[in-house]
Amino acid sequence: MYPRSFADGNGDGVGDLIGLRRRLDHLAELGVDAVWLSPFYRSPMADFGYDVADHTDVDPLFGTLDDFDALLADAHARGIRVLVDLVPNHTSDQHPWFRDPAKRDWYIRRDGAPDTPPNNWRAAFGDYPAWTWDEASGQWYLHLFLPQQPDLDWANPEVEAAMHDVMRFWLDRGVDGFRIDVVHGIGKDPALPDDPPEVGGLPHATVNDDPRTHPFIRRMRALADSYDGDRVLVGEVYLLDTRKVVAYYGDGDELHLAFNFPPLYTAWDAGKWRRQIERAEAEHNAVGGWPTWVLSNHDNVRHCTRYGSEACARAAAVLLLTLRGTPFVYQGDELGLEDAEVPADRVVDPGGRDGCRAPIPWDGSADHGWPDGEPWLPFPAGADTRNVATLRTDEGSILHLYRRLLAVRRGSPALRTGTWRALDAPDGVLAYERRSQDGADRRVVIVNFGDAAATVPLDGRWRIDVEAADPTATGAYEGSISGSNALLLSTGE
Ligand code: GLC
Repeated sequence: MYPRSFADGNGDGVGDLIGLRRRLDHLAELGVDAVWLSPFYRSPMADFGYDVADHTDVDPLFGTLDDFDALLADAHARGIRVLVDLVPNHTSDQHPWFRDPAKRDWYIRRDGAPDTPPNNWRAAFGDYPAWTWDEASGQWYLHLFLPQQPDLDWANPEVEAAMHDVMRFWLDRGVDGFRIDVVHGIGKDPALPDDPPEVGGLPHATVNDDPRTHPFIRRMRALADSYDGDRVLVGEVYLLDTRKVVAYYGDGDELHLAFNFPPLYTAWDAGKWRRQIERAEAEHNAVGGWPTWVLSNHDNVRHCTRYGSEACARAAAVLLLTLRGTPFVYQGDELGLEDAEVPADRVVDPGGRDGCRAPIPWDGSADHGWPDGEPWLPFPAGADTRNVATLRTDEGSILHLYRRLLAVRRGSPALRTGTWRALDAPDGVLAYERRSQDGADRRVVIVNFGDAAATVPLDGRWRIDVEAADPTATGAYEGSISGSNALLLSTGE
């Protein structure tokens, strides 16, 4: 969830914790198990909260710590777990640590001449070096992101201890875990070697993969495990190679879950998706890691926009929620939202990610449930009808498709934890079977990536659990099934 764009409780045009708390029933009805909240901490908002100036307080824009406690209690009362975002790689340049001359060695600094950065690393969000000259210290400091986001030096044990204190602060408050920002970035080679030419000017944040990171994650894991209940660590490992990603599961002693982004960047194509899934299956099985699946988030163009139609978005929902692993749904996916068209004079994000961060339309009224004024970004197209209130009343809507898929998933051992196996299918169609460990629950999923009807052979008699085009559809099939939809089937006697 991107709190800034979810729901506005105080009418200032920016989503906040009170607004989010009031809308928890939407999440409960949808059937989510847990929410991950993007940062709501004190921040100058150069990177909309990923530039943290105080890790243990709520920015006034989003509310107060009391609002957070109330939100957490209400979420827990509905059986919804809450993960907060831990941003360990960098802080804001306004963080007291960065402003304290006694803590200069908490950040990665290098001496040198003011016209020659210490190495060739590039920052994210623009074509510039990952180094900024700091007049005050007469040194360079490293920032894998904006100059306002200096990188912490995890080689300094005080930094690690301080970040553990941050984790304890939120774990003590009762959070169920963390999504850890750029976690593959925290360990760095102190020799700071140049990125090789084949990296070709890519941001260093997309290639940093240093073995020094793993002990840091192991100790974060040990800290999380020392708490009662289930506390989960989900890492953003932004390395676009699944083999590298799975290394961050360690020996079952690092991340519980790691985002695997290559599928997100895969075109809507049956053959390409099959290869991504088989790759993910093989790589995760090799390390005993549990896969994750994500199609959209606050950093990327929404998949409804990328795939180009609601029909594809519906089929993609069937795919996302029936693969083996933990699916992540980005707020608004369940409405089939597309990116908003943001006019040039309203673009505010230095990374140009405004479109996917548009506010959620709650109803068909003029303000779409964002009272007293204009939200910080324009609404996505079609908000008059593509909004929560309108889609709720339509049993055939994509919102109900998500609900049904999640409900079936919850009740199916095969879908929750069963094996995955590809089935024969014609070109353009991906078919697979999920089977529970004891074999008692079997589900077949058929995803037609194109618009033309195709026929898929079926072994035995199957009944429809959920059909993408019409989530209310029922029926049974024997021998084969034809159509242009995505379907989830179960063995039906
Ligand atoms: C992650 C976040 C992104 C942020 C960046 C820097 O990639 O998802 O939103 O800008 O880290 O913290």
